[in-house]
Amino acid sequence: MTDSNFEVRLIEALQPIRGFALAQGIYHLFLSGIFDRLVSGTSTLQDLEDSGAHRGRTAGFLRYLANEGLVLLQGDAVSLTSRGRELAEFRPWYELLIGGYAQTFQQITETLRGGSYASRDGAMVGIGSCGISRYDALPLVRRLLANMPMSATQLIDLGCGDGTFLADLARDYPGIHAIGIDPFAPLLSGSELLTFCRASAVDYVRSLDPEGPVAGRPRRLFLAAFLLQEILEQEGRADVVELVRNALRGDASLVVVEVDHRPADPSVMRHGLGLAYYNPYYLLHVLTEQRLETTRFWLDLFEEAGAMVVARQHVNPEVDSTGLLFGCVLKSR
Ligand SMILES: C[S@@+](CC[C@H](N)C(=O)[O-])C[C@H]1O[C@@H](n2cnc3c(N)ncnc32)[C@H](O)[C@@H]1O
Repeated sequence: MTDSNFEVRLIEALQPIRGFALAQGIYHLFLSGIFDRLVSGTSTLQDLEDSGAHRGRTAGFLRYLANEGLVLLQGDAVSLTSRGRELAEFRPWYELLIGGYAQTFQQITETLRGGSYASRDGAMVGIGSCGISRYDALPLVRRLLANMPMSATQLIDLGCGDGTFLADLARDYPGIHAIGIDPFAPLLSGSELLTFCRASAVDYVRSLDPEGPVAGRPRRLFLAAFLLQEILEQEGRADVVELVRNALRGDASLVVVEVDHRPADPSVMRHGLGLAYYNPYYLLHVLTEQRLETTRFWLDLFEEAGAMVVARQHVNPEVDSTGLLFGCVLKSR
Protein backbone atom coordinates (compact mmCIF):
# COMPACT_ATOMS: atom_id res chain seq x y z
CA MET A 1 0.00 0.00 0.00
CA THR A 2 2.82 2.39 0.80
CA ASP A 3 6.10 2.97 -0.96
CA SER A 4 9.33 4.61 0.17
CA ASN A 5 8.06 7.92 -1.15
CA PHE A 6 4.72 7.75 0.66
CA GLU A 7 5.42 10.28 3.39
CA VAL A 8 6.76 12.85 0.90
CA ARG A 9 3.61 12.43 -1.22
CA LEU A 10 1.40 12.62 1.89
CA ILE A 11 2.97 15.93 2.94
CA GLU A 12 2.39 17.29 -0.55
CA ALA A 13 -1.22 16.04 -0.63
CA LEU A 14 -1.98 17.68 2.74
CA GLN A 15 -0.87 21.20 1.77
CA PRO A 16 -4.42 22.25 0.75
CA ILE A 17 -5.65 21.14 4.20
CA ARG A 18 -2.90 23.15 5.85
CA GLY A 19 -3.97 26.14 3.72
CA PHE A 20 -7.62 25.55 4.63
CA ALA A 21 -6.91 25.64 8.38
CA LEU A 22 -4.54 28.58 8.03
CA ALA A 23 -7.02 30.68 6.03
CA GLN A 24 -9.60 30.10 8.78
CA GLY A 25 -6.98 30.87 11.44
CA ILE A 26 -6.01 34.18 9.81
CA TYR A 27 -9.66 35.21 9.34
CA HIS A 28 -10.39 34.49 13.02
CA LEU A 29 -7.23 36.29 14.12
CA PHE A 30 -8.90 39.37 12.57
CA LEU A 31 -12.50 38.61 13.59
CA SER A 32 -11.64 37.88 17.25
CA GLY A 33 -10.03 41.31 17.59
CA ILE A 34 -6.71 39.71 18.63
CA PHE A 35 -4.95 41.07 15.53
CA ASP A 36 -6.01 44.65 16.34
CA ARG A 37 -4.74 44.29 19.92
CA LEU A 38 -1.39 42.91 18.74
CA VAL A 39 -0.89 45.43 15.96
CA SER A 40 -0.46 48.18 18.55
CA GLY A 41 2.32 46.20 20.28
CA THR A 42 3.00 43.20 22.50
CA SER A 43 0.14 41.87 24.58
CA THR A 44 -0.13 39.07 27.10
CA LEU A 45 -2.36 36.05 27.54
CA GLN A 46 -3.52 37.72 30.75
CA ASP A 47 -4.62 40.85 28.80
CA LEU A 48 -6.52 38.70 26.32
CA GLU A 49 -8.18 36.76 29.16
CA ASP A 50 -9.10 40.04 30.89
CA SER A 51 -10.81 41.16 27.68
CA GLY A 52 -12.99 38.05 27.62
CA ALA A 53 -10.96 35.38 25.82
CA HIS A 54 -10.77 31.80 27.12
CA ARG A 55 -7.14 31.53 28.20
CA GLY A 56 -6.44 27.88 27.38
CA ARG A 57 -8.11 27.91 23.97
CA THR A 58 -6.57 31.25 23.04
CA ALA A 59 -3.12 29.98 24.01
CA GLY A 60 -3.68 26.94 21.76
CA PHE A 61 -4.85 29.14 18.88
CA LEU A 62 -1.83 31.41 19.23
CA ARG A 63 0.53 28.41 19.43
CA TYR A 64 -0.94 27.18 16.12
CA LEU A 65 -0.34 30.61 14.53
CA ALA A 66 3.16 30.73 16.03
CA ASN A 67 3.97 27.40 14.35
CA GLU A 68 2.85 28.98 11.06
CA GLY A 69 5.16 31.96 11.65
CA LEU A 70 2.48 34.60 12.17
CA VAL A 71 2.81 35.32 15.90
CA LEU A 72 5.48 35.00 18.57
CA LEU A 73 4.42 33.37 21.83
CA GLN A 74 7.07 33.60 24.55
CA GLY A 75 5.78 32.66 27.98
CA ASP A 76 2.81 34.95 28.56
CA ALA A 77 3.87 37.51 25.92
CA VAL A 78 2.25 37.55 22.49
CA SER A 79 3.22 39.66 19.47
CA LEU A 80 2.90 39.58 15.69
CA THR A 81 5.86 38.56 13.54
CA SER A 82 6.59 40.82 10.57
CA ARG A 83 4.82 38.27 8.32
CA GLY A 84 1.80 38.43 10.62
CA ARG A 85 1.83 42.23 10.69
CA GLU A 86 1.95 42.40 6.87
CA LEU A 87 -1.40 40.59 6.68
CA ALA A 88 -3.20 43.80 7.72
CA GLU A 89 -3.42 45.04 4.12
CA PHE A 90 -5.00 41.82 2.91
CA ARG A 91 -7.67 41.52 5.61
CA PRO A 92 -10.65 42.22 3.27
CA TRP A 93 -9.79 39.25 1.04
CA TYR A 94 -10.12 37.01 4.12
CA GLU A 95 -13.34 38.78 5.12
CA LEU A 96 -14.84 38.17 1.68
CA LEU A 97 -13.62 34.67 0.81
CA ILE A 98 -13.57 33.12 4.29
CA GLY A 99 -16.00 35.29 6.30
CA GLY A 100 -18.46 35.58 3.42
CA TYR A 101 -17.99 32.37 1.49
CA ALA A 102 -16.38 29.60 3.62
CA GLN A 103 -19.86 28.19 4.27
CA THR A 104 -20.54 28.28 0.51
CA PHE A 105 -17.57 26.03 -0.28
CA GLN A 106 -18.83 23.58 2.38
CA GLN A 107 -22.01 23.15 0.30
CA ILE A 108 -20.44 22.19 -3.03
CA THR A 109 -21.77 18.60 -3.28
CA GLU A 110 -25.26 19.55 -2.12
CA THR A 111 -25.40 22.46 -4.57
CA LEU A 112 -24.09 20.40 -7.51
CA ARG A 113 -27.10 18.10 -7.08
CA GLY A 114 -29.37 21.03 -8.03
CA GLY A 115 -32.09 22.52 -5.90
CA SER A 116 -31.25 25.64 -4.00
CA TYR A 117 -28.25 27.93 -4.23
CA ALA A 118 -25.48 27.67 -1.65
CA SER A 119 -25.74 30.22 1.16
CA ARG A 120 -23.23 32.89 2.14
CA ASP A 121 -22.79 35.40 4.96
CA GLY A 122 -24.26 38.52 3.32
CA ALA A 123 -23.00 41.03 5.87
CA MET A 124 -19.39 39.74 5.64
CA VAL A 125 -19.63 39.77 1.82
CA GLY A 126 -20.43 43.50 2.03
CA ILE A 127 -17.61 44.19 4.49
CA GLY A 128 -15.00 42.19 2.54
CA SER A 129 -16.07 43.43 -0.87
CA CYS A 130 -16.02 47.11 0.15
CA GLY A 131 -12.63 46.53 1.81
CA ILE A 132 -11.19 45.09 -1.42
CA SER A 133 -12.83 47.89 -3.42
CA ARG A 134 -10.65 50.39 -1.53
CA TYR A 135 -7.74 48.91 -3.50
CA ASP A 136 -9.36 48.31 -6.88
CA ALA A 137 -12.89 49.53 -7.68
CA LEU A 138 -12.87 52.79 -5.68
CA PRO A 139 -9.72 54.22 -7.33
CA LEU A 140 -11.15 53.06 -10.68
CA VAL A 141 -14.44 54.91 -10.05
CA ARG A 142 -12.53 57.99 -8.88
CA ARG A 143 -10.53 57.96 -12.13
CA LEU A 144 -13.70 57.59 -14.22
CA LEU A 145 -15.43 60.47 -12.41
CA ALA A 146 -12.39 62.75 -12.49
CA ASN A 147 -12.76 62.90 -16.27
CA MET A 148 -16.37 64.09 -16.33
CA PRO A 149 -18.12 67.26 -15.16
CA MET A 150 -19.68 66.58 -11.76
CA SER A 151 -23.00 68.29 -11.19
CA ALA A 152 -24.82 65.55 -9.23
CA THR A 153 -26.59 66.43 -6.00
CA GLN A 154 -27.32 62.78 -5.11
CA LEU A 155 -24.87 59.88 -5.16
CA ILE A 156 -26.79 56.59 -4.93
CA ASP A 157 -24.78 53.41 -4.33
CA LEU A 158 -26.82 50.38 -5.42
CA GLY A 159 -25.52 47.31 -3.55
CA CYS A 160 -23.53 49.46 -1.13
CA GLY A 161 -22.44 46.59 1.16
CA ASP A 162 -21.24 48.03 4.49
CA GLY A 163 -21.39 51.58 3.07
CA THR A 164 -17.67 52.35 3.31
CA PHE A 165 -17.19 52.62 -0.49
CA LEU A 166 -19.98 55.21 -0.60
CA ALA A 167 -18.71 57.09 2.46
CA ASP A 168 -15.18 57.29 0.97
CA LEU A 169 -16.43 58.46 -2.44
CA ALA A 170 -18.89 61.00 -0.99
CA ARG A 171 -15.99 62.70 0.82
CA ASP A 172 -14.73 63.80 -2.64
CA TYR A 173 -17.96 65.80 -3.18
CA PRO A 174 -18.71 67.93 -0.11
CA GLY A 175 -22.43 68.67 0.24
CA ILE A 176 -23.60 65.75 -1.93
CA HIS A 177 -26.40 63.56 -0.51
CA ALA A 178 -25.05 59.99 -0.45
CA ILE A 179 -27.63 57.19 -0.31
CA GLY A 180 -26.71 53.50 0.06
CA ILE A 181 -29.14 50.73 -0.98
CA ASP A 182 -28.50 47.12 0.03
CA PRO A 183 -30.36 44.36 1.91
CA PHE A 184 -27.31 44.38 4.25
CA ALA A 185 -26.81 48.17 4.42
CA PRO A 186 -25.91 49.56 7.86
CA LEU A 187 -28.98 50.08 10.04
CA LEU A 188 -27.95 53.57 11.07
CA SER A 189 -27.30 56.54 8.83
CA GLY A 190 -23.74 57.85 8.82
CA SER A 191 -24.99 61.46 8.99
CA GLU A 192 -27.67 63.68 7.47
CA LEU A 193 -25.80 63.52 4.16
CA LEU A 194 -25.07 59.77 4.29
CA THR A 195 -28.19 57.65 4.58
CA PHE A 196 -28.83 53.95 4.08
CA CYS A 197 -31.85 51.94 3.06
CA ARG A 198 -32.27 48.17 3.35
CA ALA A 199 -34.00 47.52 0.04
CA SER A 200 -33.69 45.87 -3.36
CA ALA A 201 -31.93 48.07 -5.92
CA VAL A 202 -34.49 47.17 -8.59
CA ASP A 203 -37.45 48.25 -6.44
CA TYR A 204 -35.67 51.38 -5.22
CA VAL A 205 -34.77 52.64 -8.71
CA ARG A 206 -38.24 51.74 -10.03
CA SER A 207 -39.82 53.87 -7.29
CA LEU A 208 -37.83 57.04 -8.07
CA ASP A 209 -39.65 59.83 -9.85
CA PRO A 210 -37.45 61.21 -12.63
CA GLU A 211 -39.98 63.88 -13.55
CA GLY A 212 -41.23 66.78 -11.38
CA PRO A 213 -40.19 70.43 -11.72
CA VAL A 214 -36.58 70.81 -12.90
CA ALA A 215 -35.77 73.25 -10.08
CA GLY A 216 -35.42 71.15 -6.93
CA ARG A 217 -35.17 67.84 -8.87
CA PRO A 218 -32.13 65.93 -7.65
CA ARG A 219 -29.37 65.36 -10.21
CA ARG A 220 -28.52 61.71 -9.68
CA LEU A 221 -25.32 59.77 -10.07
CA PHE A 222 -25.80 56.02 -9.51
CA LEU A 223 -23.09 53.53 -8.71
CA ALA A 224 -23.47 49.77 -9.22
CA ALA A 225 -20.21 48.05 -8.29
CA PHE A 226 -20.48 44.25 -8.51
CA LEU A 227 -24.27 44.58 -8.26
CA LEU A 228 -25.58 43.82 -11.76
CA GLN A 229 -24.11 40.30 -11.53
CA GLU A 230 -26.35 39.75 -8.46
CA ILE A 231 -29.53 41.12 -10.07
CA LEU A 232 -28.88 39.09 -13.23
CA GLU A 233 -29.29 35.76 -11.41
CA GLN A 234 -31.95 36.98 -8.94
CA GLU A 235 -34.28 38.66 -11.43
CA GLY A 236 -33.05 37.87 -14.95
CA ARG A 237 -31.67 39.88 -17.84
CA ALA A 238 -34.87 41.85 -18.56
CA ASP A 239 -34.87 43.32 -15.03
CA VAL A 240 -31.21 44.36 -15.31
CA VAL A 241 -32.06 46.12 -18.59
CA GLU A 242 -34.97 47.86 -16.84
CA LEU A 243 -32.76 48.83 -13.89
CA VAL A 244 -30.17 50.44 -16.18
CA ARG A 245 -32.87 52.19 -18.25
CA ASN A 246 -34.65 53.49 -15.13
CA ALA A 247 -31.44 54.66 -13.47
CA LEU A 248 -30.58 56.78 -16.52
CA ARG A 249 -33.92 58.65 -16.60
CA GLY A 250 -33.88 62.39 -16.03
CA ASP A 251 -30.32 62.88 -17.34
CA ALA A 252 -28.75 60.76 -14.55
CA SER A 253 -25.46 58.86 -14.91
CA LEU A 254 -24.65 55.31 -13.85
CA VAL A 255 -21.18 53.99 -13.06
CA VAL A 256 -20.96 50.20 -13.38
CA VAL A 257 -18.07 48.03 -12.17
CA GLU A 258 -18.02 44.38 -13.19
CA VAL A 259 -15.68 41.42 -13.60
CA ASP A 260 -15.13 39.86 -17.02
CA HIS A 261 -16.07 36.16 -16.92
CA ARG A 262 -13.14 34.24 -18.43
CA PRO A 263 -12.64 31.11 -16.30
CA ALA A 264 -11.56 29.02 -19.31
CA ASP A 265 -9.00 31.55 -20.57
CA PRO A 266 -5.50 30.12 -19.92
CA SER A 267 -3.97 33.61 -19.88
CA VAL A 268 -6.14 34.39 -16.84
CA MET A 269 -5.63 31.08 -15.05
CA ARG A 270 -1.85 31.13 -15.58
CA HIS A 271 -1.75 34.53 -13.83
CA GLY A 272 -0.90 34.43 -10.11
CA LEU A 273 -4.03 36.36 -9.18
CA GLY A 274 -6.01 34.17 -11.59
CA LEU A 275 -5.35 31.07 -9.49
CA ALA A 276 -5.13 32.74 -6.07
CA TYR A 277 -8.27 34.85 -6.36
CA TYR A 278 -10.32 34.59 -9.56
CA ASN A 279 -10.50 30.78 -9.66
CA PRO A 280 -12.25 30.54 -6.25
CA TYR A 281 -14.16 33.76 -7.04
CA TYR A 282 -15.53 32.26 -10.27
CA LEU A 283 -16.42 29.05 -8.40
CA LEU A 284 -18.41 30.78 -5.66
CA HIS A 285 -20.46 32.56 -8.33
CA VAL A 286 -21.42 29.20 -9.82
CA LEU A 287 -22.72 28.05 -6.44
CA THR A 288 -24.55 31.16 -5.19
CA GLU A 289 -27.35 33.32 -6.60
CA GLN A 290 -25.10 35.45 -8.81
CA ARG A 291 -24.05 35.28 -12.46
CA LEU A 292 -20.85 36.64 -13.92
CA GLU A 293 -20.82 37.53 -17.59
CA THR A 294 -18.34 38.66 -20.21
CA THR A 295 -17.58 42.31 -20.98
CA ARG A 296 -19.28 41.79 -24.38
CA PHE A 297 -22.47 40.63 -22.62
CA TRP A 298 -22.58 43.77 -20.47
CA LEU A 299 -21.89 46.13 -23.38
CA ASP A 300 -24.74 44.51 -25.38
CA LEU A 301 -27.04 44.79 -22.37
CA PHE A 302 -26.24 48.50 -21.91
CA GLU A 303 -26.99 49.04 -25.59
CA GLU A 304 -30.35 47.29 -25.21
CA ALA A 305 -31.13 49.53 -22.20
CA GLY A 306 -30.66 52.63 -24.37
CA ALA A 307 -27.37 53.54 -22.70
CA MET A 308 -24.14 54.84 -24.22
CA VAL A 309 -20.77 54.22 -22.66
CA VAL A 310 -19.15 57.62 -22.18
CA ALA A 311 -16.01 56.26 -20.46
CA ARG A 312 -14.48 52.83 -19.83
CA GLN A 313 -11.34 51.94 -17.86
CA HIS A 314 -9.65 49.02 -16.14
CA VAL A 315 -8.28 48.70 -12.62
CA ASN A 316 -4.75 49.94 -11.96
CA PRO A 317 -2.49 47.05 -13.13
CA GLU A 318 -0.23 47.53 -10.09
CA VAL A 319 -3.12 46.16 -8.01
CA ASP A 320 -4.58 43.71 -10.52
CA SER A 321 -2.97 43.17 -13.92
CA THR A 322 -5.39 40.45 -15.11
CA GLY A 323 -7.44 43.12 -16.93
CA LEU A 324 -10.65 41.44 -15.74
CA LEU A 325 -12.04 44.27 -13.65
CA PHE A 326 -13.55 47.10 -15.65
CA GLY A 327 -15.72 50.13 -14.98
CA CYS A 328 -17.84 52.33 -17.25
CA VAL A 329 -19.87 55.49 -17.06
CA LEU A 330 -23.28 55.24 -18.74
CA LYS A 331 -25.63 57.98 -19.94
CA SER A 332 -28.93 57.67 -21.77
CA ARG A 333 -28.54 57.81 -25.59
C1 LIG B 1 -20.05 42.01 -4.08
S1 LIG B 1 -20.92 43.09 -3.04
C2 LIG B 1 -20.42 44.68 -3.63
C3 LIG B 1 -20.32 45.71 -2.54
C4 LIG B 1 -19.77 47.07 -3.01
N1 LIG B 1 -20.60 47.65 -4.03
C5 LIG B 1 -18.35 46.97 -3.52
O1 LIG B 1 -18.03 47.59 -4.53
O2 LIG B 1 -17.53 46.30 -2.93
C6 LIG B 1 -22.54 42.99 -3.72
C7 LIG B 1 -23.56 43.65 -2.83
O3 LIG B 1 -24.83 43.66 -3.50
C8 LIG B 1 -25.83 43.44 -2.54
N2 LIG B 1 -27.06 43.01 -3.19
C9 LIG B 1 -27.37 41.76 -3.62
N3 LIG B 1 -28.58 41.76 -4.18
C10 LIG B 1 -29.05 43.02 -4.11
C11 LIG B 1 -30.25 43.66 -4.54
N4 LIG B 1 -31.21 42.98 -5.15
N5 LIG B 1 -30.40 44.98 -4.31
C12 LIG B 1 -29.42 45.70 -3.69
N6 LIG B 1 -28.26 45.15 -3.28
C13 LIG B 1 -28.08 43.82 -3.49
C14 LIG B 1 -25.20 42.43 -1.61
O4 LIG B 1 -25.86 42.39 -0.35
C15 LIG B 1 -23.76 42.93 -1.52
O5 LIG B 1 -23.58 43.81 -0.46
